[in-house]
Amino acid sequence: MKVNSRKVAVIGCGFVGSSSAFALMQSGLFSEMVLIDADTKRAEGEAMDISHGISFARPMQIYAGNYNDITDAAIIVITAGANQKPDETRLDLIKKNAAIMKSIVGEIKKRDFGGILLIVSNPVDILTLIALKESGYPSNRVIGSGTVLDTGRFKYLLGEHLDVDSRSVHAFIIGEHGDSELAAWSNARIGGLKVNDFCELRGHFNHEQSMKKIFENVRNSAYEIIERKHATYYGIAMAVKRICEAIVRNEKSILPVSSLMTGEYGLNDVVLSIPAVVDETGVQKVIPIELNDEELTKLKDSANILKDIAKDYI
Ligand SMILES: NC(=O)c1ccc[n+]([C@@H]2O[C@H](COP(=O)([O-])OP(=O)(O)OC[C@H]3O[C@@H](n4cnc5c(N)ncnc54)[C@H](O)[C@@H]3O)[C@@H](O)[C@H]2O)c1
Repeated sequence: MKVNSRKVAVIGCGFVGSSSAFALMQSGLFSEMVLIDADTKRAEGEAMDISHGISFARPMQIYAGNYNDITDAAIIVITAGANQKPDETRLDLIKKNAAIMKSIVGEIKKRDFGGILLIVSNPVDILTLIALKESGYPSNRVIGSGTVLDTGRFKYLLGEHLDVDSRSVHAFIIGEHGDSELAAWSNARIGGLKVNDFCELRGHFNHEQSMKKIFENVRNSAYEIIERKHATYYGIAMAVKRICEAIVRNEKSILPVSSLMTGEYGLNDVVLSIPAVVDETGVQKVIPIELNDEELTKLKDSANILKDIAKDYI
């Protein structure tokens, strides 16, 4: 089936799916959006509600549909599945969500779908690997939102700390989207300056302590938000919009999406986040940024944690 680059499908219309659909409606990237949920009334209600914003944005068709509606979509965003409850880790969700992912990808695979799968449900790295194996699609077409959100949080917090536009912060969170993720501090630059140099320009000299605090804030964000409002969804909705934008506009943007490692840093058969060039083909090229020895060890530990859990579900 020919891909319609103006069409997106969102499977799972809970907090994350509906917020992502809302962000996508406002983005003007698509002229058609189909919403699918196991709870069909939910998908219908979200389609109605989000459509009522169209006259304030740009014309498009938004409707609740079924799997026959997804074949010509450029991107299918999958957000279906259980979310974290307080005190639950993302990895705890695997039992519930692996089965859901397999059934959804099974339905997609029955159709002649030629677009890109963007996995958002958690644990996103393992579910992306499951989607990759179940679909049999080439790995460039099966992407996880990975640490795009965590990197957004990192840039925001660094921007606040340094009183600078977070878009001028070039820094990545890599590895698992979860507890074993790490900040690639050695590679971080703000307007071309190393982080410590920029900190000193702003009168901050307690580097170790600030770096620890900022990273812990990033890593614990989801727990902090879930404790207060039971789910996180606006940040991830913007991350989904940003990834779709890079794909649909063939931007070749470098984003830390999660993708299959094929020898980078000696890693294989594991999906995790390393910055990658994202274009209309999906993950066009993984960019193995330089890491110091400590970061490399942490990345390998993160990969081992993911591999250990994934082996029971692949
Ligand atoms: N990757 C990220 O950065 C990130 C950020 C936030 C949340 N998440 C994850 O996104 C997922 C969704 O979170 P949420 O808060 O929207 O949860 P939610 O419970 O509000 O929504 C989940 C939706 O999935 C639907 N669903 C369940 N099984 C389905 C199936 N087989 N087919 C179609 N729909 C199905 C449910 O009916 C529900 O509407 C969770 O796994 C959560 O952990 C990921």
